[in-house]
Amino acid sequence: MKKTIDYLLNKKKMGQKITMLTCYDYPTAVIQENAGIDIIFIGDSVGTNMLGYQSATEVTMQDMLHHLKAVRRGVEKAFLLADMPYRSYETKEIALENAQLFIAAGADAVKLEGREEEVVEYLTKNKIDVIGHIGFTPQTHEKAAVQGKTREQAKELYESALSLEKSGLKLLVLEMVPEEVAGLISEHLTIPTIGIAAGRYCDGQVQVINDLLGMTPRKLVHVKEYADYKHSTFEAVKNYKDEVESRLFPQEKHARTMDAAEFQEFKVLCNNSERGH
Ligand code: KIV
Repeated sequence: MKKTIDYLLNKKKMGQKITMLTCYDYPTAVIQENAGIDIIFIGDSVGTNMLGYQSATEVTMQDMLHHLKAVRRGVEKAFLLADMPYRSYETKEIALENAQLFIAAGADAVKLEGREEEVVEYLTKNKIDVIGHIGFTPQTHEKAAVQGKTREQAKELYESALSLEKSGLKLLVLEMVPEEVAGLISEHLTIPTIGIAAGRYCDGQVQVINDLLGMTPRKLVHVKEYADYKHSTFEAVKNYKDEVESRLFPQEKHARTMDAAEFQEFKVLCNNSERGH
């Protein structure tokens, strides 16, 4: 069964947690799909995590479409979400044009950052489901920092969440928000909240796949590493290099052979052609 907005809403109603992960390539998409992840998300974090950019603001629509198409080929049932990159929703008309490109490439919905009620309303009116993102928003905040730590800031977040929901938002990502604030917002919204660095009480969780696999150089408070990619990949590459250099790889079992008689005939052919026959 294909996972839809109604499926995700129903999970919230039933008190079941929603799972979401970023994904940037086909083989990882197949793994996430087979593991039953609810929302597979092509985040603009592809820029800093996979493309070597310094900032999320460098990511283009072309970058996003390239990765969306690769991930799409590996997804069947999961809800497929694509992130609108920096300046791709500057006006509601530009937003619609770009969001339609994502939908045509296979996305089920688009995500955008900040208080963009007018854009949310316009896309929703044009039958495009929109996911919001408040708290720390990498396209506008230069430095990662917890948002909503004072009562005034928390109230601002709360009011943003309610207002975005009213404008037609289908889901809301809360990033780097105190867990008490994220919990209260989650209780007061009908739509599901998905937290990252926002504690335990959101309706679901999202993580950057690179962090979870142990690919990220920095240790981050909100991350649990479920694998040790950096170490195990380095070991694999180093062992390969050493074994090629010391002639331990490849072995006979890794080789393909030809029929011995056929090989003899081949040698004769080579000798003859050397002599100009
Ligand atoms: O691009 C991204 O990875 C994100 C998550 C942090 C939610 O927006």
